[in-house]
Amino acid sequence: MSKGEKWVQPDPERTNWYWPNETAKARAWVSDPAVYEKAAADPESFWAERAEELDWFERWSKVYEDAPYEFKWFSGGKLNLSHNSIDRHVKAGKGDKIALIWEPEPADEEGRVLTYKELLAEVSKLANALKQMGVAKGDRVGIYLPMVPEAIIAMQAVVRIGAVHSVVFSAFSAEALRDRMLDCGAKVLITADGYYRRGKPIPLKPNADRALAGTQVQKVLVVKRSGSDVPMESGRDVWYHEAVKGASETCPPEPMDAEDLAFILYTSGTTGKPKGVMHTTGGYAVHAYATSKWDFNLHENDIHWCTADVGWITGHTYINYGPLMNGVTTLVYEGTPDYPDFGRMWQVIEKHKVTVYYTAPTAIRMHVKWGEEWPEKYNLSTLRVLGTVGEPINEEAWLWYFNHIGGGRCPIVDTWWQTETGATCVQALPGMGPFIPTVAGRPFPGIRAAIVDAGGNEVARGEGGYLVLQPPFPPGLLRGLYGDVEKYRGTYFSEYGPGLYFTRDGARMDEMGNIRITGRVDDVMNVAGHRLATAEVEDALTQHALVSEVAVVSRPDEVKGEVPIAFLLLKKGAQPSDGLKKELIKTVDQHIGPTARPAEIYFVDDVPKTRSGKIMRRVLKALVRGEPVGDVATLRNPESVEELKQAVGYKS
Ligand code: WT7
Repeated sequence: MSKGEKWVQPDPERTNWYWPNETAKARAWVSDPAVYEKAAADPESFWAERAEELDWFERWSKVYEDAPYEFKWFSGGKLNLSHNSIDRHVKAGKGDKIALIWEPEPADEEGRVLTYKELLAEVSKLANALKQMGVAKGDRVGIYLPMVPEAIIAMQAVVRIGAVHSVVFSAFSAEALRDRMLDCGAKVLITADGYYRRGKPIPLKPNADRALAGTQVQKVLVVKRSGSDVPMESGRDVWYHEAVKGASETCPPEPMDAEDLAFILYTSGTTGKPKGVMHTTGGYAVHAYATSKWDFNLHENDIHWCTADVGWITGHTYINYGPLMNGVTTLVYEGTPDYPDFGRMWQVIEKHKVTVYYTAPTAIRMHVKWGEEWPEKYNLSTLRVLGTVGEPINEEAWLWYFNHIGGGRCPIVDTWWQTETGATCVQALPGMGPFIPTVAGRPFPGIRAAIVDAGGNEVARGEGGYLVLQPPFPPGLLRGLYGDVEKYRGTYFSEYGPGLYFTRDGARMDEMGNIRITGRVDDVMNVAGHRLATAEVEDALTQHALVSEVAVVSRPDEVKGEVPIAFLLLKKGAQPSDGLKKELIKTVDQHIGPTARPAEIYFVDDVPKTRSGKIMRRVLKALVRGEPVGDVATLRNPESVEELKQAVGYKS
């Protein structure tokens, strides 16, 4: 167990409740719970105060405006995300401070360190190169990069010139990339030749090549990372290092209106088609900045490590914009937690003296399996705050994280939020607590949340219900889905109207107001921290020529949280086989990526359906989970349930 300063103390009465101790409170930005009441009484002033800490080229004229479906923050204000992430600190004399540490996967390879001044130069050079390629304000730029410094540089360069980035997770397939590039109409794509995974170079550029035919992408910038041989299409493809060579290190940041689009990030909805979540500049900047600062209690000398991939919102907000706007050092790690051995994450914490570590429950459960002998080999005493995000954390994983990584010294800040909210919304702040396994905490000051029933009425404390957000909506909340106003309104504001944002999560609140998230209430899964609709996996599987019908449901999994389980009806004459299973997995890899692979594929003759022919996924879900199936009498084909019980080995 690591020795170091203690930041928490146990509650004298309640088992597994922890509170910040005096050291933690003294050091915290906020430790007096009155901040919650004060912010609740006047959320607009609360957020305006947070906004004051950033640089604005022009001050806003109105803090918040709300019209049905269209709310605005900081109207009339002008700012730039990249200026606030970088220039602001250089101007304040912090140019020589380390902004970014890059840890490559090969443990013997030297990493890269960029000071704020150097980051400014790199970002400006790329920004100028992009301009030269014809990228202008409002244009979309795709980013399909592994975890290399250029991923951060690219996002920063794009927003610097007022263009809009859309980052696509590098483990997504060519087809997934194509869909997203087509949907947002990207003009330029920034990618890499490849990257390292478990010691081997993995090609990436060939995926981009397959993705781009038929899209509007005119230019491709290619970062040289793995050194693997890649074909370059003349007239379209340019090496990144050549494009920035000789480019000017000065590029004035574009003054953006607070409500100008900053980026689009695709995420899974309940249908097969991913949704382009739109985040604007001012509200997102303030929300990302303020939550990074308070959730992790960021101070001058912090080394902040968020283990997410840049392809997810967590990477956008808590690797890139949030920590950099706070002027701390952010760590970017290229690889996996099990290379060269199960101790890699802990070795990196020791090596770089990491103070804040932010990861996902699925990762913690993996470490639990590998055993505490791995973290025990390393000095983790620099750690001060531990964070988790992405799914409800089970008590066992929480306690393991608390004891074996935090040495019983560090608070665990369990942050609830979504791609849509842009930044965290519910958590226990380090100077405030309480830190309780499986309980996220209170809504961040200035954010209003409630647990309601199907009619939109608040339920009693302790009762289960649906988590909603109330106006004024969080500054970072999405402003729309790219190109689909109807879907935006239908997905988030149809259940309760435009006055309540529906999170699609179930939750309950204790007497003190702490929120426990119980999980999604729609057909969206959380597979090893990756958000995925059952419909997406279904769409992928139906692409196979021999498949006639598919139903995918989720099943809880000890490590991954949830996994997809597929029920397949084959076309006449097609025979089930292991070979076919392998082909089907390949189909999923091609259309989405390996994260979406079903853990189990059942070839069946029929699936339960309603009289109108809708597949009863509820019944399938109960079957794979070994839960009571309920009344099936109203089904069109109740006999199918008996067959399925046999197929899945159901025991009730
Ligand atoms: C969904 C959003 C936002 C970062 C990563 C996930 C679940 C997220 C928690 C948490 C319980 C959580 C919710 C949410 N979720 N954080 N701390 N406790 N559940 O973003 O992919 O947009 O998924 O993740 O179900 O709706 P995402």
